[in-house]
Amino acid sequence: MKLKGKVAAVTGAGSGIGRAIARLFAKEGASVGVIDCVKEAGGKVVDEIRAEGGEAIFVEADVSRVPHTERMIRTIVDNFGSLNILVNNAGVELVRHTWETTEDEWNRVIDVNLKGVFFSSKAAIPEITRSGGGSIINISSVNAVNGLPDLVAYSASKGGVLAMTIAMAKELAPRNIRVNAILPGAVDTPMLRVYLDAQPDPAKALEEMIDRHLIRRVGRPEDIAKAALYLASDDAEWVTGIALVVDGGYLIRF
Ligand SMILES: NC(=O)c1ccc[n+]([C@@H]2O[C@H](COP(=O)([O-])OP(=O)(O)OC[C@H]3O[C@@H](n4cnc5c(N)ncnc54)[C@H](O)[C@@H]3O)[C@@H](O)[C@H]2O)c1
Repeated sequence: MKLKGKVAAVTGAGSGIGRAIARLFAKEGASVGVIDCVKEAGGKVVDEIRAEGGEAIFVEADVSRVPHTERMIRTIVDNFGSLNILVNNAGVELVRHTWETTEDEWNRVIDVNLKGVFFSSKAAIPEITRSGGGSIINISSVNAVNGLPDLVAYSASKGGVLAMTIAMAKELAPRNIRVNAILPGAVDTPMLRVYLDAQPDPAKALEEMIDRHLIRRVGRPEDIAKAALYLASDDAEWVTGIALVVDGGYLIRF
């Protein structure tokens, strides 16, 4: 078990990639704080983890709200006694051309995807420091470096996450906290379905999406969870400030 005795907080763990990360971390021995703004979804993931013999609690929080980020970390530390790992995974997508995007839509994307990562990290840093160091993992996207035309606000938020990862890695190295980003390609989750359903022909859009990957399938949430496990574990003890691309060859395809 690679995370035995560790305590991990995973935001957006009620669905998709976050759910897969929470389940894998628990299987590898971590006590997991399953954080989500949707109670039923998060509760179900905790049930799944416990049924598999793992340890987890659900914490309801909206990461775009600073008091929620403080409360979620406090709840996890109160329950498990410490914090070693934070996975900033919660995110929202906005499929919208720039000229159609409202100020409220822009604010929501930035508040969840960028502000949420910053303030969740801010809340976690003193606790991870107290436990002697650890790992922060930010789920960015290939869109951080190669955005799509109807994902401009989303791409900006994910680029911001990447920039924040590098700056924070420098800031936190003296505290023995490693900070890394994962850049997934298209992964089969409810979020991907929303993107496809917003296209004129979703079936054709899926084919085109698959075609953008050298390894001709979309990703599975478990593909990303395995990368997160590496970055969370001591296997990555000399790894900080990287953008770990897990994309089936998407970025080098053309
Ligand atoms: N699916 C993909 O193709 C893909 C590709 C690259 C990056 N990503 C990123 O991976 C992460 C996870 O995406 P996913 O595909 O699993 O999406 P998803 O929609 O399946 O899951 C996202 C989860 O985050 C939760 N969430 C949303 N806003 C929240 C908030 N303000 N506070 C707390 N929880 C919140 C949702 O309730 C949901 O459970 C996101 O950051 C996303 O941008 C996804």
